[in-house]
Amino acid sequence: MSAAAAEQSISINIRKMSLLDVGAVHAIESASFPTPWRRRTFASRLLLSDHRGYVAEAEGRVVGYILYRLHLGQVHLQKIAVAKQFRRRGIGARLMEFLFDQAKTAGIEAVYLEVRPSNVGAQDFYKRFRFTLDHIRENYYSDTGEAAQVLIRTVDLKQG
Ligand SMILES: CC(C)(COP(=O)(O)OP(=O)(O)OC[C@H]1O[C@@H](n2cnc3c(N)ncnc32)[C@H](O)[C@@H]1OP(=O)(O)O)[C@@H](O)C(=O)NCCC(=O)NCCS
Repeated sequence: MSAAAAEQSISINIRKMSLLDVGAVHAIESASFPTPWRRRTFASRLLLSDHRGYVAEAEGRVVGYILYRLHLGQVHLQKIAVAKQFRRRGIGARLMEFLFDQAKTAGIEAVYLEVRPSNVGAQDFYKRFRFTLDHIRENYYSDTGEAAQVLIRTVDLKQG
C-alpha cells in the first residue's frame, strides 16, 4: 500500500453476505458496472451451495463485496467492488487477501476471473495481485461485444 493509501486506510470487518445485504450490495454494483447484476441475481447466487459472498463493512455500512464460485477445484471470482467514495483505501486489497486465505484453507489451486481490457483501474489492481493473462474470451460483454481477458493466479498452498 502506498503512503497516501496507508494514511487513508480504514478499519473494516469482512463477513458473510446475507440476503439482507443485497440492497446495499446492489447499490454499489449499479454504480460500479456498466451492466450490473440485478438484485435477484445476487439473491439467487447466495442460495447456491457452490457460491460464496462476503461484504466489507466500515463505519457501520457495507462498503464493498466479493462473490465467487467454487468450480472444478478453482475459484471463479465473479464480483469484486468497492463503493466509489471508499476506493484506494485498501478495501479491495483486504477482500482479495481474504479470498486467497479462503481459497488456501479450502485447498483451491487457482483463482481466475474475467476483466474488460478497458477497465484500466481493475487491470492495475489485478496486476498488483500478480494475476496473469490466461486467455482471451471473445465477445464476452453483451453491451459492447468487448472481449474478456481471463486472468489467473495460482494459490500458494505452502506459504504462511
Ligand atoms: C477494482 C476495485 C475493487 C479496487 O478496490 P480498491 O478498494 O479501490 O483497491 P485498493 O485500494 O485495495 O487498491 C490496491 C492497489 O490496487 C491498485 N489499484 C486499485 N485501483 C486502482 C486504480 N483505479 N488505478 C490504478 N491502480 C489501482 C493500486 O496498486 C492499489 O494500491 P495503492 O492505492 O497503494 O496504489 C475498485 O476500483 C472497484 O470497485 N472498481 C469497480 C468495480 C470493478 O471494476 N471490479 C472489477 C471487475 S473485473
